[in-house]
Amino acid sequence: MSGLRNYTLRVWRQKNANTKGAFVNYDASQISPDMSLLEMLDVVNDRLISDGKEPIAFESDCREGICGACSMVINGIAHGKERGTTACQLHMRHFADGESITLEPWRARAFPPIKDLVVDRSAFDRIQQAGGYISVNTGSAPDAHAILVHKDDADKAFDAAACIGCGACVAACKNASAMLFVGAKISQLAHLPQGDPERKQRAQAMIMQMDAEGFGSCTNTLECEAVCPKEISTRVIAEMNWEFMRSA
Ligand code: SF4
Ligand code: FES
Repeated sequence: MSGLRNYTLRVWRQKNANTKGAFVNYDASQISPDMSLLEMLDVVNDRLISDGKEPIAFESDCREGICGACSMVINGIAHGKERGTTACQLHMRHFADGESITLEPWRARAFPPIKDLVVDRSAFDRIQQAGGYISVNTGSAPDAHAILVHKDDADKAFDAAACIGCGACVAACKNASAMLFVGAKISQLAHLPQGDPERKQRAQAMIMQMDAEGFGSCTNTLECEAVCPKEISTRVIAEMNWEFMRSA
């Protein structure tokens, strides 16, 4: 097959949270430029397994940019250099033939390492469980437009709801702040009438849990917005702060 490319991978290998990790080099030869980065890793892993070696551990689920599982740092940038793109949607055509590609896990105290490129992001689940829901009984689906929502609010709620909980915002932040994620979850419900009854309690509970998990503070560096695969705006951080102040 023509047009195949060869890469050198520099991959972070670490058995578990208690062992020291290190970069290991691998050849990724004869790779189609139409493969995604994860499909390239599948090929490399198949070859490692056939050689009796341990495959590289990484996470994936949907491979369609909607689950947030495929988190990793690619050449120093969370999810790689293509804007608005998850690792599973990043194609090898964006890397030059012969390029060296460095793959690392998210590095943040609140995301402890599990193995190789996989970290424990359950801190996000605990923040979500603290208040990122509505507890009213919504019954069966209402008729369309039964509850009117202003277009501007609907758009803002929809934009915030695009967050897939990948954690790239944390990985990119010098303080490992989770404020873009938490802001998105709070903003999504703050713009909808269904989210209104619990908005004060939600803001307080989610922010308290975020702090308890050990995430740092926002210093308006905006790197979170730059790497977010869903291009969530830092507007949601301002809204989170406003929701917190009005909850006092
Ligand atoms: S705000 Fe963006 S970068 Fe952060 S978890 Fe959500 S989708 Fe990922
Ligand atoms: S595997 Fe689901 S977003 Fe990448």
